[in-house]
Formats: sequence, structure tokens, C-alpha cells
Amino acid sequence: MSLTIAIDGPVGAGKSTVADEVARRLGILHLDTGAMYRALGLTAIQLGVDLQDEEAVTRLCDGTEVSVLHSAEGQRTLVGGKDVTPFIRTQEVSMAASTVSRYAGVRKRMVAIQQQLAEGTDMVLDGRDICTTVLPRATAKIYLTASDEERARRRWEELKKRGAEESFEQVLEEVRQRDQQDMNRPVEPLRQAPDAALVDTTELNFDESVAAILRIVGEKRHG
Ligand code: DC
Repeated sequence: MSLTIAIDGPVGAGKSTVADEVARRLGILHLDTGAMYRALGLTAIQLGVDLQDEEAVTRLCDGTEVSVLHSAEGQRTLVGGKDVTPFIRTQEVSMAASTVSRYAGVRKRMVAIQQQLAEGTDMVLDGRDICTTVLPRATAKIYLTASDEERARRRWEELKKRGAEESFEQVLEEVRQRDQQDMNRPVEPLRQAPDAALVDTTELNFDESVAAILRIVGEKRHG
């Protein structure tokens, strides 16, 4: 049986960076599934596809090849073989990813690709529906969260480092808006799976968050 670790949670909970470190410590791969929805959102923006038009976005998704590569610098996300990794972290693309991820046809295709990538492979996956839909039989399931303010603060710090100029209030508003959309969509909304362990990182630093997850994984693997 392969070792699979499913991590879900809201915006800015630190899923991706924590998952990356957990994977590194365990010597396994990490798949950031949000990057795939981001790649599709970016493509829709670039091609001028109306994000509110479910049919058009679904058609675009069906005709777009989203793939990932794992390199020494981490995951690279590709659209039609072209590396889009540097362009998918803006606020505009974040919101677009959240919007295109509402559509059943988009989710079906993305989930299928993710399941294929994880098939028979030791892997950490992070996203919104990993515990519930992508890997319902994962070795360990975690719901990673923190208070709205703390998540916005971390995101704001990260954006500042990259030279973005949004105010803290703007980032907090974006975090709440995106959570609202991700938690209330009709298909596979973000929620804590009944069998997922809750890890609240409001009061935890990065190393403590990684340690908390590794502890849960250890318990699940060795009882
Ligand atoms: O994790 P992230 O912020 O990079 O994800 C971007 C958006 O993609 C998120 O707002 C909702 C969507 N998403 C999803 O619906 N399911 C996933 N497994 C991962 C992300």
C-alpha cells in the first residue's frame, strides 16, 4: 500500500508550504492541486473566456492540457507543455481559480488527473477536496486551518515579499471572499472530512505545524 497524505483547508492556512516540508521529510512527492485550478484560471483570463460561463470554462478545461513536473525546486505547473508557474500566484488568478473550480466538469477532469498522478505513488496532496473526493482512502487525512486574520496576515506578508501592494484589509477581504466561494459551491465544497484530523495553526509556527502533521502521519502508519 502506498503512503498518501491528504491535506485540505481554507485559503492561506499554509497547506502548500507545510505539505512541501512534510513531503521532503518523508522523502516523497508533493502535489499542490490548487496550482492546477490556478493554471486553468490563468488560461481563461489570457484567452478572454468569461469565468462566469460554466459551459465555456468547461469546454476550455476539456481542451486544455494541465500537467505538473516535479523538479528539485518543487512543482512546476504546465499548460500545453508551457511552464506557467511564475504567473499563477497573483490575486486575480487566485479568484479566477476559485471561480473555475465551482464547475462540476472542471472538477471531474482535475480530480481524474490528480488520482492518476497519485495512483500507486507515495505522495502528499493538498487542496480543498483531497480527503473527501480525491483520496478518500488516504493513509492520513488532515484539515489544516487558522483564524481568518492570521491566514490573511501570512498571505499579506507573502504578497509583500513578492512586491505586491495590497493592504492588509484588502487581503483579508480576498481571503474571506474566496473561502465563502470555496465553502458554498454546489460541487465538492470545502469542508472538514469527518475522519480528518483538525490542525489549527493560529498559534503554531511553521516547524510546529510540520511536526503536528508528521505526528498524525506516524500514528496512522504505526498505530
Ligand atoms: O490552494 P489554492 O489557494 O492554490 O487554490 C486555488 C483555488 O483552487 C481555491 O480557491 C479553490 C480551488 N481548489 C479546489 O477547488 N480544489 C482543490 N483541490 C484545490 C484548489
